[in-house]
Amino acid sequence: MYRDFTNFGQLILILVLTSLVISVQGKHAKPFEVIVGGRSSQVEAPISTPIAEALKPLIFADQRLAVVYPIIQKFKKIITSDPLGITKSWVGPDICKNYTGFYCESPPDNKSALALASIDFNGFQLSAPTLDGFLDQLPDLALFHANSNNFSGTLSASIAKLPFLYELDISNNQFSGPFPTAILGMNSLSFLDIRFNFFTGSVPPQLFTEPFDALFLNNNNFMQRLPDNIGSTRAFYLTLANNKFFGPIPRGIYKALASLTEILLLNNLLTGCLPYELGFLKEAVVFDAGNNLLTGPLPFSLGCLEKVEVLNFAGNYLYGMVPEVVCALGNLANLSLSDNYFTTIGPICWNLIKKGILDVRKNCIPGVPFQRSIVECVHFFQQPRYCPYRVTYNFIPCWLPNFKSPPLAATISDLAPSPS
Ligand SMILES: *[C@@H]1O[C@H](CO)[C@@H](O)[C@H](O)[C@H]1NC(C)=O
Ligand SMILES: *[C@@H]1O[C@H](CO)[C@@H](O)[C@H](O)[C@H]1NC(C)=O
Ligand SMILES: *[C@@H]1O[C@H](CO)[C@@H](O)[C@H](O)[C@H]1NC(C)=O
Ligand SMILES: *[C@@H]1O[C@H](CO)[C@@H](O)[C@H](O)[C@H]1NC(C)=O
Repeated sequence: MYRDFTNFGQLILILVLTSLVISVQGKHAKPFEVIVGGRSSQVEAPISTPIAEALKPLIFADQRLAVVYPIIQKFKKIITSDPLGITKSWVGPDICKNYTGFYCESPPDNKSALALASIDFNGFQLSAPTLDGFLDQLPDLALFHANSNNFSGTLSASIAKLPFLYELDISNNQFSGPFPTAILGMNSLSFLDIRFNFFTGSVPPQLFTEPFDALFLNNNNFMQRLPDNIGSTRAFYLTLANNKFFGPIPRGIYKALASLTEILLLNNLLTGCLPYELGFLKEAVVFDAGNNLLTGPLPFSLGCLEKVEVLNFAGNYLYGMVPEVVCALGNLANLSLSDNYFTTIGPICWNLIKKGILDVRKNCIPGVPFQRSIVECVHFFQQPRYCPYRVTYNFIPCWLPNFKSPPLAATISDLAPSPS
């Protein structure tokens, strides 16, 4: 279908060029009213019947728009619900001016051409069983935003051949099936937002070695060990929340230190102790690992995250002291540690509780309101708990005038009962 229309398009182009040549040679007055479509002679008569409308030749602003026109019309036919009446505007040849949600621009490979460059269907509430045959057939597309529609199906591997696509947002739809692995081959793609869908299986680790700026994968059904190479990402935003990622947070996460700004890992099944290497993520503004199965102490190194505003570890099995160096972070607006097994806080942290910044409800801290029962706390600490690389927990890998890493003896005494 697409191939046929390419040929048809070339024919149109030839007709346009021929007409232009004729216009120039014959000094016609209106060269821009060249009629394209090959049926011009029959339809110069008055046009009011539907048949005449249908036969009316289509004059496209550019050959590239003639190519996408039938693709759009075909997609319009498979839309099963359009409560806002969006597709009513998708008629006639004026795609750039008339079609709600469609935007044109000069494509990178020809500055004098006009092409369908972006689609913004955000919030249109359209339903369609698939985007195949549409999205993957719009060769000049750079942006596709279709947040909050009711599109379903899987994502065709053929989107990989769109040379200019750099933002793909299909969040909050009904897509299912495996991760669309085909996108890994796309050099241009830098923004991927597939959150709030029903994708299953696992995310290929190569995703983290490709140069994405943003990877929004939260609220799907991905189920896998958190890939070891996650730190290879150059993304600023990495959201894996509300899936079923398991295993520890890889120590190699520190490699993403130059870019990672927002990291959302909440509501997964992550286990193990927090790697002190988290303290190297100096660009982090939001780090959220709430509601997992993480254990061990909070590394002092988190006190080096000088840009951090939101730190959430609520709903885990963390224990020990809440490091004063973390409570002293200058930009902290929300430190959520509720629903863990912390046992000690110092004066700086107390002050944050009073300010409503630190939440330590449901822990085991004597003298603080809303703590767990003694029975619950005793029960928790009866089991031996152990984290590897123990000395790293009190190590502060940055220079802070008011804090220095405590001596080794303090390091050991701060930890919860160890198996001995
Ligand atoms: C396209 O929009 C113009 C105004 O911008 C309007 O006059 C014209 O009727 C529209 N075409 C169709 C086919 O709706
Ligand atoms: C660029 O686009 C214009 C307008 O569509 C077209 O006439 C011209 O042939 C194109 N140039 C190339 C090199 O394709
Ligand atoms: C979304 O599509 C599904 C079928 O694909 C349908 O059952 C459901 O009613 C649609 N929801 C809305 C809000 O249109
Ligand atoms: C702090 O973060 C927690 C966890 O994300 C959230 O539940 C809470 O509402 C936030 N508190 C404030 C005051 O924003």
